[in-house]
Amino acid sequence: MNSDSRTTFKSKIGIIMAAVGSAVGLGNIWRFPYEAGQNGGGAFLLIYLLCVLVMGIPTLLAEMTLGRMAKTNSVEAFRRVSKHPVFSRIGYLGVLSCLLILGFYTVVAGWTFQYMWESVSGDIVGGTTEQFAQSFVDFSTSPFQPLFWTLLMLVFTHLIIIGGVQKGIERASKLMMPLLFVLLVVLCVNSLMLDGAREGLLFLFKPDFSAIDSGVVLSAMGQAFFSLSLGAGVMITYASYFEKEVNMPRTATTVALLDTSVALLAGIVIFPAVFTFGIQPTQGPNLVFVTLPNIFAQLPWGSVWSFIFFLLLALASITSLISLHQVVTAYVEEEFRVSNRKAALIVTCAAGVLTVFASLSLGVLNDLRVGGMCLFDLLDFVTAKIMMPVGSLLLCVFMGWRLEKSALLNELTNYGTLRWRWAKVFVVVLKYVVPILVTLIFVNELGVFKF
Ligand code: PHE
Repeated sequence: MNSDSRTTFKSKIGIIMAAVGSAVGLGNIWRFPYEAGQNGGGAFLLIYLLCVLVMGIPTLLAEMTLGRMAKTNSVEAFRRVSKHPVFSRIGYLGVLSCLLILGFYTVVAGWTFQYMWESVSGDIVGGTTEQFAQSFVDFSTSPFQPLFWTLLMLVFTHLIIIGGVQKGIERASKLMMPLLFVLLVVLCVNSLMLDGAREGLLFLFKPDFSAIDSGVVLSAMGQAFFSLSLGAGVMITYASYFEKEVNMPRTATTVALLDTSVALLAGIVIFPAVFTFGIQPTQGPNLVFVTLPNIFAQLPWGSVWSFIFFLLLALASITSLISLHQVVTAYVEEEFRVSNRKAALIVTCAAGVLTVFASLSLGVLNDLRVGGMCLFDLLDFVTAKIMMPVGSLLLCVFMGWRLEKSALLNELTNYGTLRWRWAKVFVVVLKYVVPILVTLIFVNELGVFKF
């Protein structure tokens, strides 16, 4: 596909919704609460918010600028702008990140199907906190059931991808995102009335500065990049479908704002319940799946709420999965000049193999460990805490130092037709702030020196 024939997102709202669709997903509702729970709550939240503001929004904008400028897949985009042998290869890292994220993300997305199913069968509302916890462990470590849902999720994603960019992505995200938002608000109100509301809110919003260590900072940074889908080429690929009138600074800010609000809402739903039902906030990836059934169990028509919630969560995950898949598919399609269908099939098969192993690594293959982590945890760790920050750092260096400043500013301001008063600050952030902060956080985590 050459650059002129690439389809573009039709409506303005479609553009924002597709980007929000990628950003909002399990990262906000599953990963954010569990990372916050493991990393001291309020302290984590504070650093996370700072990371979104100082690094997230500028990186998001940098990705969008590159994408719209290059109008091609995320690997070719770097090459088109720079012939430098190192810089032209940055895009590969993003494609690899997306493939690896697909590996564990699809597994968790599959769990949402199981919970929809359990809502219908009624299992989700009858039980004690211990029973809910046990049934999640039994399910997620069993070999076949999670695999079935995971593969079903992958097939869904595949079908949407081969349905075409515009129709598939735009339609799915425009409809479902607002609904998810409303439901989260309703659940928030419910959580605020629970006995443990005060304790939960204090945990989430009151920073305990003594809890901050290098691991907390790295986790918060990783979560910011992960949640905004940065450093993996997603926003480069999506912005390559943007039209030239799109106001990118405004779009980037809106996407970040919506994404962060969803994470906050999820936190307000989860933590009051965690303290009400005596759940350990530090238990990791299980947290949300163990907490939510307790919430639904105390609601009238709990199984109906539960079904709707997991349905919307499944859809939010699908819109993120689509974006991950699309990055790899667009690359395979344009690089190897194969049809969209063939490219999508190759990607689905590769992701399928990874997801099978990632899912099994929670049960029968749990003893296979690298650095103390099973494959599922390893994929999550390597992508969010290493590859995405590195990808973002390289992107910012690339946009700040390799690209001519006038070209950057022209694209950013739609050739001077937009006024954006932060443009100068933005350039400084790309050139210095993001690269230095990411490097410091890495070096600090490695223990070479401590803040
Ligand atoms: N941002 C998505 C979420 O929060 C996950 C994602 C990461 C999607 C990277 C695409 C690329 O769920």
